[in-house]
Amino acid sequence: MPLLRLRGVSKQYGTVQALAPLDLDIYPRDFVAMLGPSGCGKTTLLRMIGGFIPPSSGSIEIAGTDVTPLGPERRPTNMVFQGYGLFPHMNVEQNVGYGLRIQKRPREEIAERVADALRLVQLMELAKRTTEQLSGGQQQRVALARALVMRPKVLLLDEPLAALDLKLRHAMQDELRRIHHEIGGTFVFVTHDQGEALALANRIAVMHNGRLEQVGTAEDIYVLPQTRFVATFIGEANVFDGTRASGTVTLQAGPRLASTGPDGAVAAIVRPEDLGILEEGETRDHIVEAVIEDAIFLGSQLRYRLRGLNGESLLIHTRPGKGKTHSIDDKVRTGWCNGDHRLVSA
Ligand SMILES: Nc1ncnc2c1ncn2[C@@H]1O[C@H](COP(=O)(O)OP(=O)(O)OP(=O)(O)O)[C@@H](O)[C@H]1O
Ligand SMILES: [Mg+2]
Repeated sequence: MPLLRLRGVSKQYGTVQALAPLDLDIYPRDFVAMLGPSGCGKTTLLRMIGGFIPPSSGSIEIAGTDVTPLGPERRPTNMVFQGYGLFPHMNVEQNVGYGLRIQKRPREEIAERVADALRLVQLMELAKRTTEQLSGGQQQRVALARALVMRPKVLLLDEPLAALDLKLRHAMQDELRRIHHEIGGTFVFVTHDQGEALALANRIAVMHNGRLEQVGTAEDIYVLPQTRFVATFIGEANVFDGTRASGTVTLQAGPRLASTGPDGAVAAIVRPEDLGILEEGETRDHIVEAVIEDAIFLGSQLRYRLRGLNGESLLIHTRPGKGKTHSIDDKVRTGWCNGDHRLVSA
């Protein structure tokens, strides 16, 4: 049974549709990443889950209760905002204990829960410092502890690592995974960084232009992208444009693929590791001739950038030492097997 159930949830700002109606189920212990480019509606969706803004339509259920009309203080959720929103005049301990003091919990309980939360984010020794005396990464941990101390059923995180430099961001990704594992909680995490989504989440919800395009495990989304956007946003992809007519797709690059479905524009997606450069006499189900424009040796991987004879831009990844190494300006045949392309609407 899902812990969080969204049905037909949408958001309209005046005439702007920030979010088209969407359904989404999030299960206990999920670590879900809402992934998409700037302006696609991620923060809007997270704020509706947290009760900070009302949806224009639809319903939100948490643990079997309809929370749609309830404000944030009456939902079993807690949010870590981008920029943290810490109180600068309070020390770390006071910041973390703030929500419990508002709830008028007994003093000993507050002390105990604050200490637990600080232990979890490894900030025990900084408890008495003011937040101005902390680094960005330490402030991030305080914000996290302040949300965790409330023991939310669902923890909402809006790009919590965006302000950190790359090294610290990677360290905090590991921390978040550890904390998620340790408390067995349910996290919903917003990011525009696909690497971060892949590193953290067990399920990814890909958003684009106010639409939820696909939800699935990282592997599902990579192997079976349902839209052109998803295919190009997660990992790299060769996109061959084409047209379907009476059960055959003809790609502009030449190959013809058998495929049932409505007539009209479609695109075939082939991952760079599934497209090969063919040796003399070698063949595949589908062939595209191309010229090598660039070859980059990355140790474990050899990456080719090619230009198809019809102008398409192609990517091929191979393992060094497998077959012949090609040079810039070489004219080659590339190809893939049936089963290695995925057709999406154009
Ligand atoms: N209060 C508002 N009034 C009008 N339009 C808004 C309002 N808040 C957001 N929008 C619009 O709704 C859309 C989605 O905004 P949202 O903040 O959810 O995007 P986002 O995916 O979080 O982007 P980012 O990655 O830049 O944070 C944008 O086009 C934005 O301009
Ligand atoms: Mg945002």
